[in-house]
Amino acid sequence: MPEFLKQEDKILPSIDNPDPELSRREKIDLKFGLQPIVWEEDGKVTIPKIEFYINHICNLNCKGCNRFNDHNFVGHQRWEDYEQELRRWGEHVNISQIVIMGGEPLLNPTLKEWVHGLNSIWPQALQILSNGTRINRVKGLYDLLNFNVGGSDFHGPNWIGISLHNSDDYEIILDEVRKFLVEPITESIDSKELSNTGSELQMIDANGVKVRFWQQNVFVQGAVIPGKNGRLTLRDNDVELAHTSCAFAQFKCYHMIKGKIYKCGPVGIFPDFDDQFDLDLSAEDKKLVREYQPLSVDEFAQRGKEFFATIDEPIPQCKFCPINQNETPEIIYPTIKGKTQ
Ligand SMILES: C[S@@+](CC[C@H](N)C(=O)[O-])C[C@H]1O[C@@H](n2cnc3c(N)ncnc32)[C@H](O)[C@@H]1O
Ligand code: SF4
Ligand code: SF4
Repeated sequence: MPEFLKQEDKILPSIDNPDPELSRREKIDLKFGLQPIVWEEDGKVTIPKIEFYINHICNLNCKGCNRFNDHNFVGHQRWEDYEQELRRWGEHVNISQIVIMGGEPLLNPTLKEWVHGLNSIWPQALQILSNGTRINRVKGLYDLLNFNVGGSDFHGPNWIGISLHNSDDYEIILDEVRKFLVEPITESIDSKELSNTGSELQMIDANGVKVRFWQQNVFVQGAVIPGKNGRLTLRDNDVELAHTSCAFAQFKCYHMIKGKIYKCGPVGIFPDFDDQFDLDLSAEDKKLVREYQPLSVDEFAQRGKEFFATIDEPIPQCKFCPINQNETPEIIYPTIKGKTQ
C-alpha cells in the first residue's frame, strides 16, 4: 500500500470550535470553510455546492452506503429527460461547486451529455465523483476532462475525484488511473487539503487533466437496516439527534435529483428505494417518506426564498437516519457486486 494511504483510522469530522458566542451552525461553517446561500442583487441565488445524483446503479457493495447503492438498486437519469428544467435552473441559480455522482456516475449511459450539458449551463469546472473502478471503461471520459470549460473564458478543466473504498485495491486503481492519464504525470499530496477535507493524493498529467483521491474505506452507518422477515427498513430515531450527527446536514450536501433540489441525498432517494424494496415501514412512515417537498424550478419564484431559508433545518424525515453515527465507524472491504472477492 502506498505510504500516504497507510492510515486506516480515518478521523471523522467533529466540531471543536471553542467560541461560545457562535451557534453550532456557525462553528461548523467556520471550521470547514462552508459558505452560506446568498441572494444576489439580480435575483439569482448562489448555492455553495450541489451534488447532481444521476443514478442509483453501482457496481460496488460498500456496506452502509449512504445513498443505499450497496443494495441492488437500479435506475438512472438520462440527461435529455431533465435538460429543459436544468437549463431553467441556470437562469435562477449560481453554483459554486458542481459535483456529478450517484451511485456510480461512470455507469450512467448519458454521462457525456450530463457533463457537456452542465458545463454549458454553468461554464465552470465540475467534479465527477467516482469509485474509480471503471475509469478505463468509459469511452470519451478523458476528452470530458481535457478541455477548457468556458472556451476562451478559461475556468479550468473538469476533474475526477476518486473514493478509494477497499485498501486491498488501492494500488490497482492508482495504476488504472496512471494508464488513463498521459505521461508525464505529477503526483502530489496536498497537505492543506489533507487537513481540511481528507484529500490525500492528486495526479495531474501532461495535459493538465486532474484526478484526486480520497481514502474512503471507513464508513459510518447508513439509514437502511434489516427489518422483519428478511425485508429492509429505515431507522426510527429522534429527528434533532439524527440531524445533529448527520454529515449531509453538517457539510450542506444539497442534491439535485431528477431536476429538483433537495436538502440532502437520502430524503430524495428514500421514495425510489421504497418503491423497489418495499421497506418494512408503517403506513404512516411510508407516507412520510414521500412527503418531503423538494424545490422544482416552476416553484422557484413562489417557494424559493422560504425553501433556501430553511434548508439547513431538520426535517421530519431525519428520523429515518442514524444517530451518533461517528461513534461506530467500520472499515469496509467492498467487492464488485455478485463477486465474493
Ligand atoms: C455515495 S458515493 C457516490 C459516488 C461514488 N460511487 C463514490 O463512491 O465515490 C459518494 C461519497 O459518499 C461516501 N459515503 C457513502 N456512504 C458512506 C458512509 N456510510 N460513510 C462515509 N462515507 C460514505 C463515499 O465514500 C463517497 O466518497
Ligand atoms: S462505490 Fe460504494 S459508496 Fe460509491 S455509490 Fe457505490 S456502494 Fe456507494
Ligand atoms: S434526512 Fe436529515 S438526517 Fe437524514 S440525511 Fe437528510 S438531513 Fe441528514
